[in-house]
Amino acid sequence: MCEKCRGNYYITTPIYYPSAKLHIGHAYCTVATDTMARFKRLQGYNVMFLTGTDEHGQKIEDKAKAAGVTPQQFVDNIVTGERGVLDLWKLMNISYDRFIRTTDDYHVAAIQRIFKKMHDNGDIYKGVYKGKYCKPCESFWTESQLKDGKCPDCGREVQDAEEEAYFFRLSKYADRVQDLLENTDFLEPRSRVNEMVNNFIKPGLEDLCVSRTSFTWGVPVDFDPGHVVYVWIDALFNYMTALGFENDKYHDLEAFWPADVHFVGKEIVRFHSIIWPAMLMSMGMPLPKKVFGHGWLLLGGGKMSKSKGNVVDPVVLAERYGVDALRYYLLREFPLGSDGNFSNELLISRINTDLANDLGNLLSRTVAMVIKYFGGTLPAEREHDALDDELIAMASSLRETYAGYMDNFGTQQALIEVFKVISRANKYIDETAPWVLAKDESKRARLATVLYNLLETLRITVTLLLPFMPDSCAKAFAQIGAAAEQTTWDNAAVWGVLPADVTVHKGETLFPRIDMDKELDEL
Ligand code: MSP
Repeated sequence: MCEKCRGNYYITTPIYYPSAKLHIGHAYCTVATDTMARFKRLQGYNVMFLTGTDEHGQKIEDKAKAAGVTPQQFVDNIVTGERGVLDLWKLMNISYDRFIRTTDDYHVAAIQRIFKKMHDNGDIYKGVYKGKYCKPCESFWTESQLKDGKCPDCGREVQDAEEEAYFFRLSKYADRVQDLLENTDFLEPRSRVNEMVNNFIKPGLEDLCVSRTSFTWGVPVDFDPGHVVYVWIDALFNYMTALGFENDKYHDLEAFWPADVHFVGKEIVRFHSIIWPAMLMSMGMPLPKKVFGHGWLLLGGGKMSKSKGNVVDPVVLAERYGVDALRYYLLREFPLGSDGNFSNELLISRINTDLANDLGNLLSRTVAMVIKYFGGTLPAEREHDALDDELIAMASSLRETYAGYMDNFGTQQALIEVFKVISRANKYIDETAPWVLAKDESKRARLATVLYNLLETLRITVTLLLPFMPDSCAKAFAQIGAAAEQTTWDNAAVWGVLPADVTVHKGETLFPRIDMDKELDEL
């Protein structure tokens, strides 16, 4: 850990199945994680942000076959090919520190060692698997877990399955996992705890089938040829192999394990809050500090799943509206823990109201007035008025309120608080009427004070928007003449950081207004 840092912070996003191009729902999860990672960096933490791809399993094997390529070629194309996962994360400005592919050699070898260790300690044993299998979800279910005879996750048909397989003694860990869920803050939001305990643990946790023989695209069980490791075991341990667990590629386990938070979609909370801790208990490893289950981004009230075909392409949206506007919308419109309905109309109206009107206008009007009335550089004289007090108080205390929300993944609330101050500053322009002050030579110091207060409010609010809209915020700083050392976390709680004779620079309009009717017509 570096001496100046507040500490290490390890945050992960689920690793994606590269079975098709990603949609905006996938981007939602990664943008949210990225924003939290940037927030922690802003606060001064030494952050490790991991993402990657989960490349094994029958679904990929089948898709590759249908496409007439090998599974490796198939996933390579989706991960590293043009407009692939890596390109999308670059476009969305995802600041990951490490990217893991479960087909990476070091990960495959590590999974083999992990599987063997759990076999040697008696927690993985050989038996016969009889049950139901949902192919698209790659999930095994018992009769009692099915919903109307169908997969409880996706509602599709399941198949009978019977084969020799290895099992993990999940049942052995039921009590400890229940205790973890009920008596600690391991899983959030808390509403997900009841669902896990009542639906999965209380009906009786059965041992989990953890190997397959009916396909080959997976990590081979090295001591029993023909078996491949169940894709979820392979996938979950990515969080540790990417730090160097059971491999020599990396050496970051001591610094970053246990993870501070695994950020995951609600449908995979079960894997992360029941199976994952149980396996870590079996391996004698510390448990992650938190699993946060976020909601789904829905389309027309339904799941935005690629198999349903109603995909919303993040590349198209980012090109049309800008990456930062899209990032902002995703985190402002819905609370992270709940589902939210995606709509182009809502997206455009958010851009127009919050970004173009409130923030964009405040920035462009303030910069334009400093240029118009003072040639771009403020004179150092000041004249305070009681009218300034509320704005200064609100801006100075914003960081604390914001941090309180962000530390609990309350991105929507944090943004609402920032925009309250932005709106207050717009109202302050109306109250102080700088255009009237400008007409009176004796009011020069007062006019300079008003404009300085607006610039300071912008410096603070834009600093706190950095995790959400990194590029636009950097451009805004250039316009208000704020240097990097003035836009730090520490300075976000201090009033009066910009030099008294600050110089502004006219810049491009950061968030152009969108003509809603025209735009909706074109879609
Ligand atoms: N490969 C597993 C994760 C393994 S982690 C050890 C997986 N992959 S996925 O590609 O299907 O989904 C990745 C993430 O995207 C999940 O957290 C999932 O919830 C999220 N989303 C997929 N569609 C989504 C929405 N429509 N809305 C929000 N999140 C969505 O699961």
